[in-house]
Amino acid sequence: MNNMNFNLPQYLTEKQALVNQYLKLILHQYDKRHELIMAMEHSLMAGGKRLRPILSMATAQACGKDFLITLPACCAIEMIHTYSLIHDDLPAMDNDDLRRGLPTCHKKFSEPTAILAGDALLTHAFNVISNPEQVFDIYPDYETRIKLISKISQAAGIQGMVEGQMLDMQSFQSKQNNDLDHLKKIHALKTGKMITVSVEAGALSVGSDLRTINKLIVYADKIGLAFQVVDDILNIEGDPQIMGKAAGSDTLNEKMTFPGIIGLDASKKYAKNLIDTAIEAIWEFDEKATPLRAIANYIINRDH
Ligand code: IPE
Ligand code: IPE
Ligand code: MG
Ligand code: MG
Repeated sequence: MNNMNFNLPQYLTEKQALVNQYLKLILHQYDKRHELIMAMEHSLMAGGKRLRPILSMATAQACGKDFLITLPACCAIEMIHTYSLIHDDLPAMDNDDLRRGLPTCHKKFSEPTAILAGDALLTHAFNVISNPEQVFDIYPDYETRIKLISKISQAAGIQGMVEGQMLDMQSFQSKQNNDLDHLKKIHALKTGKMITVSVEAGALSVGSDLRTINKLIVYADKIGLAFQVVDDILNIEGDPQIMGKAAGSDTLNEKMTFPGIIGLDASKKYAKNLIDTAIEAIWEFDEKATPLRAIANYIINRDH
């Protein structure tokens, strides 16, 4: 696997299919006619990019290990990410009608059902990691599972994604302290933490050492921030049809964004610099890290 013959679109498609297959297996243990399961399935299987699980798998490969053992963490992370989107779209939050090209969960079902579907995805994510034998053929040992639960719950919670969403919400309620450093903090928490833990979970699942993990974390922190900077840019320049979600909403909601503070061109340059730094951080990894490098570049070139 070297830069010359690596086919990223094919890699992404294959890995997406694998994650989708296991997410379906997880849900199909339960009665599909149940409204709660239907609502969970509606949002989970609507066709996200599966970037976070793909990062876990690519990280396992960069460490020279079989990526299949990362699948329980991959599915748990994607379930948590999906819960965060369901709740983020609610009228009390961003009030969006479209997500992943489909009506948002509360539009398709109801607000209470959407809240509960999000709750169930979040809760069940930790069940997936702690009881992997129900669905997966190979999975990490007990000690590793505890580490995964610890890291993922930290990234999603009080000092992670939820705190980032809180600061994001407060930033447009009170416009105090809305400078670039504060915005970087919001982005790093709201989006960065779950991306970083995806890489970390990949490395932990295959038993990597701390030194290796720390280098991967530098890579992940940079691409995580770049990902949200690009999300801000796409909210201005992107095509809602391709993105499967609304554009223009940040300006409408007076959200603090990178283009809003430093302008579009500077935001693009900033994202590119972050990606270059991310790739530099993993220079010691050989060609096994080709997917990680390609994914970093994809983050700034994506259209959805
Ligand atoms: C959207 O995440 C929300 C952000 C954190 C920017 P993604 O762009 O990864 O959304 P999906 O999973 O592909 O729908
Ligand atoms: C969503 O953030 C990120 C979450 C942690 C839920 P945004 O509100 O900025 O993302 P989109 O534009 O709705 O996907
Ligand atoms: Mg939001
Ligand atoms: Mg939103």
